[in-house]
Amino acid sequence: MRKTRQILDMNAFAPGDAAQTPEVSRRLGNLGAASVLFYRDPIEMVRAEGAWMEARDGRRYLDFYNNVPSVGHSHPAVVAAVSDQIGRLNTNTRYVVQVVDDYIDALKAILPEALANVVMTCSGSEANDLALRVARAVSGARGVIVSETAYHGNTDLVTQVSPSAWKQGSGPDWLERVPPPSAGEDFEASVCRAAAALQRRGHGVAALLVDSIFSSDGVFADPPGVLDAAVAAVRRAGGLFIADEVQPGFGRTGSAFWGFARHGAEPDIVTMGKPMGNGFPMAAMAARPDHLAAFCRDVGYFNTFGGNPVAAAAGLAVLRVIRDDGLQQNAARMGARLASGLHRLAATSLRIGDTRGAGLFLGVDVVDPDGVPDPDTTSRIINGLRDEGVLIGAAGKYGATLKVRPPLCLSADEVDLFLAAFGRVIAG
Ligand SMILES: Cc1ncc(COP(=O)(O)O)c(C=O)c1O
Repeated sequence: MRKTRQILDMNAFAPGDAAQTPEVSRRLGNLGAASVLFYRDPIEMVRAEGAWMEARDGRRYLDFYNNVPSVGHSHPAVVAAVSDQIGRLNTNTRYVVQVVDDYIDALKAILPEALANVVMTCSGSEANDLALRVARAVSGARGVIVSETAYHGNTDLVTQVSPSAWKQGSGPDWLERVPPPSAGEDFEASVCRAAAALQRRGHGVAALLVDSIFSSDGVFADPPGVLDAAVAAVRRAGGLFIADEVQPGFGRTGSAFWGFARHGAEPDIVTMGKPMGNGFPMAAMAARPDHLAAFCRDVGYFNTFGGNPVAAAAGLAVLRVIRDDGLQQNAARMGARLASGLHRLAATSLRIGDTRGAGLFLGVDVVDPDGVPDPDTTSRIINGLRDEGVLIGAAGKYGATLKVRPPLCLSADEVDLFLAAFGRVIAG
């Protein structure tokens, strides 16, 4: 039987992997068992700009992994906005500070109109934690449906709905897992079965929580519209649809600003994070006012750092850069160039299975000659690309899908550079 892989285990350094440098030893000593470093031979980074990161030894790496600095590492507009705001005022949301409401107004202008309340948090995990609590308060039910290899964050509650983070066990009784909408899977039928199972066990259905590009499941973007019928089924069962936009949001999929919008689905709650501040830690949950009020009847919510003015300034700069630099359109154009190059390479290699995705978020299955998912070759490709000066990661149930996720400011030359390096590595 093939071994399933835990998300933090993919391409991770393990003590004993390589001759340990003093810097790596210091890191392990400081972070202990919770330490996670990339690569068998970890890289010490010192600076980054655009799509490029630079290591202490002066080597430059093309960043095809990191979707946090989505408008480009150290983008000057974000740096200026953050520096300016932190030099003037940084405080919490118990004061009226206009940049915070300017940001929320700008965000609401691109969200479904019904989601008129936004709660700012510091991480995607906090946003999903709150979203689940709101869904439970509104529905009066406890049951949650997620995808098979989902990752939604690191709080106690959210870890329980993040199977890809579990090292052992099978999750709580109030959780049902469904396969992502891949070939041959009827997503609606799976969600209906999951809802019925939760009802049979007396939990009811509080929410369907999905990352609308199913990134940790291995990147499943198609067919557009596949979420609709499943969402309708969850609503019939009394639950809410929570769209986790931490990965696909902010223009990455090219054809839409949000992953759920690509599917034409209307979420009851949207959560977001990662690219929102281009590296400045910020996240949010957007919900209907009556839903948020239902939650706040029992308990209040305050987040000391959530919604601080510096985060708002960073977020506003990110939205402006995406609009002014046409980054969503660039994601569509460069994504198409990247996808066609990958398809060309796949036609020449038995080791490349399915290639799929949307915009600048692609998944490339790595298989053995019999077409079986091949995590060892995936790891060889990841390390080979690192030797070529390209950073890339893995996802999927078996850790055998390459996650191709460069910044949205990517140029055609950078796409071609990646394809050339990838071609050499898979031929090697
Ligand atoms: C889909 C998804 N949701 C939520 C999270 C959690 O976000 P954070 O790490 O900011 O808490 C992640 C992080 O990887 C994610 O990929």
